[in-house]
Amino acid sequence: MDFGWRFAFGHATDVAKDFDHATGTFSYFTKTGSGSGASGSDFDDRGWRTLNLPHDWAVEVPFDRRGSGSHGSKAVGRNFPETSVGWYRKSFTIPASDLGQRISVEFDGVFRDSIVWINGHYLGTQESGYSSFAYNLSEYLNYGGENLIAVRVDASLEEGWFYEGAGIYRHVWLVKTAPLHVERHGTFVTSEIKGNSADITTRVSVINEGTNAATFDLEQTILDADGKTIAIAQTKPASLTAGDTGDFTNVIAVANPKLWSIETPHMHKLVTTLRTDGAVVDQYETPFGIRSIRFDPNEGFLLNGKHVKLQGSNNHQDHAGVGVAIPDALQDFRIAALTKMGCNAYRCSHNPPTPELLDACDRLGMVVIDENRLMGTTDYHFDHLKRMILCDRNHPCIVLWSVGNEEWRIEGNETGARFTAAMQAYAKRLDSTRPATVAISGGWGNGSSKVIEVMGFNYLKHGNTDEYHKKFPQQPGVGTEECATTQTRGIYVDDRQKCHLRAYDWDPSNWGSSAEQGWTHYAERPWLAGLFVWTGFDYRGEPTPFGWPAISSQFGILDTCGFPKDAFYYFKSWWTDEAVLHIFPHWNWPGKEGQEISVWAYSNCEEVELFLNGQSLGRKAMKRNSHLEWPVKYAPGTLLARGFKGGKEIATAKVETTGAPAAIQITPHRATIKADGEDVSVINVQMNDAQGRLVPTAGNEITFVLTGPGKIIGVGNGDPSSHEPDKFVDTVSALPLANWRSKALDSATNRAEVAFDVDDSGWQTAFGGRRGGGGGGGRGAAAQPTHPTVYRASFDLPSEAKNATLTLALRSLGQEQSVFLNGRSLAQNVPRDNNGHEFQLSADALRPGKNVIAIVATPQVGGRGNRGGGGMGNRGSPGQIRVITSAGDWKRSLFNGLAQVIVQSTQPPGEIALRASSPGLPSIELKLQAQQTALRPAVW
Ligand code: GAL
Repeated sequence: MDFGWRFAFGHATDVAKDFDHATGTFSYFTKTGSGSGASGSDFDDRGWRTLNLPHDWAVEVPFDRRGSGSHGSKAVGRNFPETSVGWYRKSFTIPASDLGQRISVEFDGVFRDSIVWINGHYLGTQESGYSSFAYNLSEYLNYGGENLIAVRVDASLEEGWFYEGAGIYRHVWLVKTAPLHVERHGTFVTSEIKGNSADITTRVSVINEGTNAATFDLEQTILDADGKTIAIAQTKPASLTAGDTGDFTNVIAVANPKLWSIETPHMHKLVTTLRTDGAVVDQYETPFGIRSIRFDPNEGFLLNGKHVKLQGSNNHQDHAGVGVAIPDALQDFRIAALTKMGCNAYRCSHNPPTPELLDACDRLGMVVIDENRLMGTTDYHFDHLKRMILCDRNHPCIVLWSVGNEEWRIEGNETGARFTAAMQAYAKRLDSTRPATVAISGGWGNGSSKVIEVMGFNYLKHGNTDEYHKKFPQQPGVGTEECATTQTRGIYVDDRQKCHLRAYDWDPSNWGSSAEQGWTHYAERPWLAGLFVWTGFDYRGEPTPFGWPAISSQFGILDTCGFPKDAFYYFKSWWTDEAVLHIFPHWNWPGKEGQEISVWAYSNCEEVELFLNGQSLGRKAMKRNSHLEWPVKYAPGTLLARGFKGGKEIATAKVETTGAPAAIQITPHRATIKADGEDVSVINVQMNDAQGRLVPTAGNEITFVLTGPGKIIGVGNGDPSSHEPDKFVDTVSALPLANWRSKALDSATNRAEVAFDVDDSGWQTAFGGRRGGGGGGGRGAAAQPTHPTVYRASFDLPSEAKNATLTLALRSLGQEQSVFLNGRSLAQNVPRDNNGHEFQLSADALRPGKNVIAIVATPQVGGRGNRGGGGMGNRGSPGQIRVITSAGDWKRSLFNGLAQVIVQSTQPPGEIALRASSPGLPSIELKLQAQQTALRPAVW
């Protein structure tokens, strides 16, 4: 249900600006179906913006120093009531033939505090932004007609201390099943490997939501990655009485299974089929993997019986350009960027992730710690823990459930021990195949750490892991956080004014350690399962050690775009078997001639020799998990490094002093994308000199113009203090039509009453008496006129709307209507239409200040009953002026030579052209192909 939503800001405190929501005499909690204002189905939302999900409005609003620094200083939160509540509405049709099915709407995640209505009926409230939820719609729907879902999202409060976004930032699904069906998240597949075969245990919960008892057969088929059936199991015919739920378990043997592993992430699929009287009534697919896991107190982590060191990173869901609303293809892009440096493990800090992130980890072979948001032991807390586990438990990538992170007030005391024990036991009841962990930043040896199955060490400064291991020899352990180095991509001299910090691994934060210290510690202790570096990617918020104007963290090994910092090559050296040789800094230091610059090499070569302009500066031996340094007197030219293994040269690296910016280069991560309105290509933009070398200090502003079946959805450059916009979104607002007057006429033709300066003060007041009727519009519906009638209303044109596109969105006022702007005809004798009418207002017919709309309508035939012309949800006005102000061209400055543009397909296939230009430089065009593809079913 991702396509074709309407969106507008409501208001956290001002009722009128919150679209008069909940102001009806009978509100939605009073009488069902009485959603009023924007929660009612008859509200006219044509003055709202149209968008597709996923959507994060926090990334669209400006930076503001009053904003929450931990959240990236965006104008969202308690100080910003006008941009902290967002409304989403979508109308869709349900065919009459669906009557009798069970239909529900599923939200994968909404940040946060959402209220959902269907056709004006309240469905429920969800506070947390990180758990998925579903509402049954079956009894509420209008079968064979239109339906309206409305969602109010309130992001005033925070759940984390990092950028969290705002809005419906994950997918929404409409799910239709037979009354007898597999329950939502109702399967659980686990495997036990026995020599050359595996026993697959398939548990399935079936629910009979019908009104009669049902007898059925249950068949379970296991398919391999190629879709080939490799095993089938059938249960005996079963019955469920109306409303009942039943659990069924099969153990299915699979011979020579292809195991899921980091190197070969083979996936399987379980297809559960329910049949009544031989006819298929439900089919439910569960992707899963066959693998074994074990955390051992001495051997660390074992996958399929083999020791694997976890080379992990912590990450928040946040990317340049799009914030938390990450398209599925971008999830893959991000996981693939981590795997390129040998990262094999991902901690979802500090909340359950978007489902497609886990799909990407399953597909790409990335082990995951899935983390609960808030520790606690009430129904609220257990419910969220349960939802995480039920939703995610079939993903083979997940190896640990984390019940919490750094709960400072309890982690080191008995309360923490009680919380942890209770949450761990609860998790175990739902899934006995995975251990639990909790990330602990203090009180090691007390509190939570005494009871947790796998100890999560956050930051070595809190204790001594060797002593800990001696004291608790039976407890496995893993480094859930370490390092937290702050480095800016491409910066080699601190510039604290710009909040830029040099990317040498020199100064660890006062609680973390350098990458080298952190990794060496974990690499040298086989009993420790591995390390999760804080963090893989930079993320908005937590601009440590700065405050405003810094808006983003700098902990990442990659920046917010995924451009590698130098540390990437440190980890790649020790996390992969590829020959790695990387030297830095860049070699553009005019004015520093003769001054000493520290040149570093990250490499897994045994020896590295460095040359400046052909002259050797010495050959040095590399210590495992370390780096090399040379003090070098700067002279422009070429730094060359040669790397040796067994005395043989196996790698070289070169850094050259470049010329001035001369040419823009744009490189897509994929040149062909699916024409499905969802797929994306991540396009890196780079500034080169005349010889095609990256200019490492370039900051040119680049303008992007796109043509063809695609759109730009975000731009970024990884600068942790850039206040340039990531989004260029047209502003859509609605001008109210006020002072509605009407007069009965004897004939509808050639009326002088439509002129601009007619005095209508003596006419009857129209519509104004009716405010926000309920979903059915039952109260306050006025009698239809029996004569032709002329209506007049006015609006004030603000001066800033001069260059905007104005559209009159009107409901039908009669059987036929002729519409005038300031006396000029917009349309004649337009027949009534349930969807209303739209008329573009041309600039030459508009006046500064007051403008008048006049409508001459003939009496309606057949009474009321259309959505467009029925109850008046908008303070009684049957029309409004939609004002669209263009955001102008997309642009972004390069940061240290690089920027990024994310292009998404719209639906038609074809060629997308992206032109990039910058003053004084030749512009360049990139062509992408949007290729026809089978579209996922969508609801309209
Ligand atoms: C940890 C915390 C992380 C992040 C990090 C910064 O204490 O768990 O979420 O704030 O510090 O180093």
